[in-house]
Amino acid sequence: MDSKPTPLIAGNWKMHCSLSEAKALVDGLKAGVAGLKDRQVLVGPPFTALETVARTIAGSAILLAGQDLHWEPKGAFTGAVSAPMLRDVGCTHVIIGHSERRQFFGETDETVNKKIAAAQTAGLVPIVCVGETLEQREKNQTMTVIEQQLRRGLLGQKGDAIAALVIAYEPVWAIGTGKVATPEQAQEVHATIRRILGELGAKEAAAACRILYGGSVKPDNIDELMRQTDIDGALVGGASLQVESFVRIAKFIV
Ligand code: 13P
Repeated sequence: MDSKPTPLIAGNWKMHCSLSEAKALVDGLKAGVAGLKDRQVLVGPPFTALETVARTIAGSAILLAGQDLHWEPKGAFTGAVSAPMLRDVGCTHVIIGHSERRQFFGETDETVNKKIAAAQTAGLVPIVCVGETLEQREKNQTMTVIEQQLRRGLLGQKGDAIAALVIAYEPVWAIGTGKVATPEQAQEVHATIRRILGELGAKEAAAACRILYGGSVKPDNIDELMRQTDIDGALVGGASLQVESFVRIAKFIV
């Protein structure tokens, strides 16, 4: 039985790329991933490059995500960008609750919860990030932390909505460190995430929900990661900034 959802390879560009760099990167990706059929490819540029990237990917299968959003549709929130604005510029997805937002910008499970609802109202697919710190892993708190982030962040989410979500498991200790979780470590957490999603929604919804792994994903570790039962894709930081490495990751072989 092959019930795995369509894999998603997503690039989180973080605070990188001028307009000309963004255009060159996405031009290269367009050519590199053209014709890839059994998987989806997504890029998440900074807000300033969204329009340029949207124009450049027009007519290709590459999907576009914002890296964050505010939960209100508009208003006096200096510096913030709303879900309808992201839709307007051509986004289909939005990253929510990235550990860098949690660490440096005061993101909490409660704001994550509000942002998920706002994204869904606007028709954006939320990519909800969860993950433990090194200290939490060393204290054996990984599963507790993940469960709390999911139960609080996804409060009020039900069956169909859960099926449409994307969850990204990103152990904080593996982000930008070159220290990738072993496929077994990642699989163990992914299986737990799917079990919790099943408890929140239904088994079928949990099976349909894509769970991405993120944290030092590179061309030389993607294949083994993608062979794990509950890994449905990757959220790639550093290696998504170069055409060659991101294309190779998108062309993972299982
Ligand atoms: P790196 O791939 O650079 O470790 O970043 C992972 C990440 O944070 C993606 O959102």
